[in-house]
Amino acid sequence: MKRPFVRRALAGMAITLLVLAGCARPDSDAGAATASAPITPALIPAPATLQVGEGSFVINADTRLSATGEPATRVARQFAAYLQSAGGPALAIADADGKNGIRFVLETGNAAAASPEAYTLDITPDGATVKARDERGLFYGAVTLWQLATQGDKGGVTLPALHIEDAPRFAWRGFMLDPARHFQTVDEVKKIIDAMALHKLNTLHWHLTDDQGWRIEIKQYPKLTEIGGCRIPAGDGGKDPKTGEPRPYCGFYTQDQIRDVVKYAAERHITVVPEINVPGHATAAIGAYPELGSIDTPLVPSSEWGVFPNLVNVEEPTITFLENVLGEVVQLFPGTYVHIGGDEAVKDQWEASAREQARMSQVGAKTEMDLQGYLVERLEKYLTGHGKRLIGWDEILEAKLPPEATVMSWRGIEGGLKAARQGHDVVMSPSNKTYLDYLQTASPNEPPGRPALITLQDVYAFEPVPPELEESQRHHILGLQANLWTEHTRTFARLQHNAFPRLAAVAETGWTPAAKKDFADFTRRLPTQLKRYDAIGLGYAKTPFEAMIATEDDRKAGTVKVTLSNPLGYPVHYTTDGSEPTSTSKAFASPLDLKLPVTVRAAAFAEGRALAPAATFELTPAALLTRTDEAMAVCPDAGRLLLRLEDDGPAEGERAIFNATIFYPCWQWNQADLDGIASIKVRAGRIPYYFQLAHDEPHRTFEPAKSPLGELEILGGGCKGHTLASVPLPAAPGADGFLDLDAPLPAGTAGRQDLCVRFTGDTRPQMWVLDRITLQPR
Ligand code: ACM
Repeated sequence: MKRPFVRRALAGMAITLLVLAGCARPDSDAGAATASAPITPALIPAPATLQVGEGSFVINADTRLSATGEPATRVARQFAAYLQSAGGPALAIADADGKNGIRFVLETGNAAAASPEAYTLDITPDGATVKARDERGLFYGAVTLWQLATQGDKGGVTLPALHIEDAPRFAWRGFMLDPARHFQTVDEVKKIIDAMALHKLNTLHWHLTDDQGWRIEIKQYPKLTEIGGCRIPAGDGGKDPKTGEPRPYCGFYTQDQIRDVVKYAAERHITVVPEINVPGHATAAIGAYPELGSIDTPLVPSSEWGVFPNLVNVEEPTITFLENVLGEVVQLFPGTYVHIGGDEAVKDQWEASAREQARMSQVGAKTEMDLQGYLVERLEKYLTGHGKRLIGWDEILEAKLPPEATVMSWRGIEGGLKAARQGHDVVMSPSNKTYLDYLQTASPNEPPGRPALITLQDVYAFEPVPPELEESQRHHILGLQANLWTEHTRTFARLQHNAFPRLAAVAETGWTPAAKKDFADFTRRLPTQLKRYDAIGLGYAKTPFEAMIATEDDRKAGTVKVTLSNPLGYPVHYTTDGSEPTSTSKAFASPLDLKLPVTVRAAAFAEGRALAPAATFELTPAALLTRTDEAMAVCPDAGRLLLRLEDDGPAEGERAIFNATIFYPCWQWNQADLDGIASIKVRAGRIPYYFQLAHDEPHRTFEPAKSPLGELEILGGGCKGHTLASVPLPAAPGADGFLDLDAPLPAGTAGRQDLCVRFTGDTRPQMWVLDRITLQPR
């Protein structure tokens, strides 16, 4: 597509970040603490126990920090730095005894604290004291105190006297970053690490290799990053707009950068788990070193998304290659675990390869899955020999698996349940509960991603220990992890949008005792957490905090019924006179019957504050005749894969976004009022068809084309109803990248009908996507 057609509100996201980063509170008046009422603690994750006592303690610029010994001093410094980064006062570390100050105390002899991550926090009118037996616990105590200290106004915060005894529920509280599909800079990764630490998350799973890119420097094999680190993006995004020459998308981390990130994470008590994915998701590696592959056809790092057939072979030279790669990896990552992938390795190439079949006989593998099991076993042996433990996606359970191997359950929790019963350790990261590339609301302001929603409520409700798992095996559930795949997440602003605040819900499940979890209480604490995000310049999704609208218009009467809502149930206040809504504007209680035209402005509120900028809905008779793709339903037969896709160009700047079902491109306007409608105007875009479906390919069910380039079809009475219009498609869209079609309706078309709009034919390597449809009155 040539020119973008910007129609969404997402352009503001990157700008918001910059503004927030610059709005740290001035601390010039920090010393002027007022005797304000103590704050109500709003901690995320909620601590195991918290008792509020008598009296209060003020943190302001005069507060001193004290710590004895190097580890406690380190934590005190981190606390001071985090407080300042949130706009708080710059606190000095003094040698005082801590009276009227904050003391960090490492009690190494205190074996009573079961977990090295446990801590206590006491606040009395004399000061605050954080105690732990390990530096990790002390750090988490500091994070809790930081959360309390960032609840106040600029200048100082009055904390209630309290006693907290706290320890995490799970040892693995993880987040997975995917730089293979879209790359994050070292500074961006560090920003995520800080955000993780401030949520008491402790494991960063770094998905460093995939079909679309190899992102870690390996000294022995430089082509892994020279060739495997670059791809040519599909469509216009992969062309230099001036010359038309290929414009590669590249990125990798040098070993020095990796060491830097690992150290930065370790200082914040986060272990980085590297992933080198084999035998599938390895196209970039095979593109760099063709001898690793299972076919003779040359490959390149792919610009497509999905499941590819390309597998590494399992012959000795490849195993040596992988051992050499892991040899460098284990030197870079001091943590216990190395992730070897293992997911979605469809076996077509091994089935068709005489060499792999011979290799199967040689190693005694009866099936191709056994051959994958053999590879896993060899890598496990290598890692064990280097003091490491292997972890892999749950497919590794389908072959014989060494007992020490740990399983990451992503295809639901079933793999994890089975693995735990077999005595394997397990990390739960089910795709339907903890995948953050799934969108979090139905708002048209969501970025590209997968619109099968995983809401904040869904993430919060996930329980990592299946109730049916026998008590004796429950210790095998190490914890949970959220995964943020980045096929559709091209920018860091969008990455933060997808991660936050849902990662706060993951953090609470990972830390807080199950019996103490309470979503209503979590949403009470959440607005305070958003203020912390604002203070440190962390981006987050505004969509869960927006006011949303649903309308039912009656064109003949010139009226519209309006329902306002907020995805998290925060109260919505609105105006109909064009003014900015405030917390004292009318609260939405039941559907509004309004006369057209009308401007409805609405926002969701907590504690008197709008949680997101007010939404403005201009309701006019003309506007109500148009529906965008997002506002339309998915056709009943459109299959399961609805994607929110971005246009392929321009290379820089804003791009149009389309909701499309890629197995069957079809959209439905349910109960459209066709009375008095002469024709339907359709505006469509065209994007590259860049999907690899592997064994799902037969599920693509296009309606056959009746003309050479296919047609746009509009049916009444749903997609199995009667054809209202069928318009042949041109070879290409217009100069602006869009196609505008007019479809006259047969005389006598009337009444409310489910309007089905679809494109016929197999138009690969491109696909038509709907932008909007407009009913045109006679
Ligand atoms: C995965 O989502 N393929 C692990």
